[in-house]
Amino acid sequence: MSKIVIGNWKMNGLKSSVATFRKIVRGYSPERAAKARLALCPPATLLAEFAMLAAEKRCEKNLAKNPENNPENNPSVLLGGQSCHFEPAGSFTGSVSAAMLHDAGASLTLVGHAERRAQGEDDEQINAQLLQALEANLTPVLCVGERQAERAQRQEHLERQLTRALASLPPSLARVSHLIVAYEPVWAIGSGTMPSTAEIEAVCRKIAEQTRSLVPSTTRLEVLYGGSVTPANAAEIVAATDGVLVGSASLEAENLLAIVDAA
Ligand code: PGA
Repeated sequence: MSKIVIGNWKMNGLKSSVATFRKIVRGYSPERAAKARLALCPPATLLAEFAMLAAEKRCEKNLAKNPENNPENNPSVLLGGQSCHFEPAGSFTGSVSAAMLHDAGASLTLVGHAERRAQGEDDEQINAQLLQALEANLTPVLCVGERQAERAQRQEHLERQLTRALASLPPSLARVSHLIVAYEPVWAIGSGTMPSTAEIEAVCRKIAEQTRSLVPSTTRLEVLYGGSVTPANAAEIVAATDGVLVGSASLEAENLLAIVDAA
């Protein structure tokens, strides 16, 4: 299975960032697509426009090759949300629902990112968000990770986050065809420090094992690493995992494409 690289722009990006996204889409050649799937989670305000650009490019490439081809067979950059609300709709001023993300062109969404947890999202809400993502046909990218002070109890902490996020989903989980879990140590996000590659590999393997016992055997499961990933360290990390979740290094087209090259 090919690797996956997911960029998370966080609260960065204005209309002028369309130029950067165009560079990413143009640079995501069939050769790169053969190496890794590429997804970008821009702010919700840019999602619809980026999704349109990605779809246009898909058609263009495809028509140039063979007018009879189905554009869907031509991989382009996937789009994702950065979070979704735990209710499907209603009086939640300022929030974005999973269905809105899907409607705008997303095919996946981050759930439980450390920066959302730090703003007060708890395990119960993350569990409900995951359900909403599934209901809206979005692939959830469940983010888990320990804080610096929790490093000594890392395994128990991660197991608790996984168990709570995936709790009481069984009936809907029967339909979960694809789940992505991103291991992001909180202390590694934006800090320039990270665990050793051997440690990342061991933790991701353990996460896969624990998650496997919580989801149906038919679920396609991928476990990624995130936290201070750059073009310089990506090759080693991608080789040890199913892919990477990239924050600040995804803001420049050249860096994001260099990380795909490293896959
Ligand atoms: P970073 O962020 O790559 O800037 O460390 C990663 C993330 O928050 O997903």
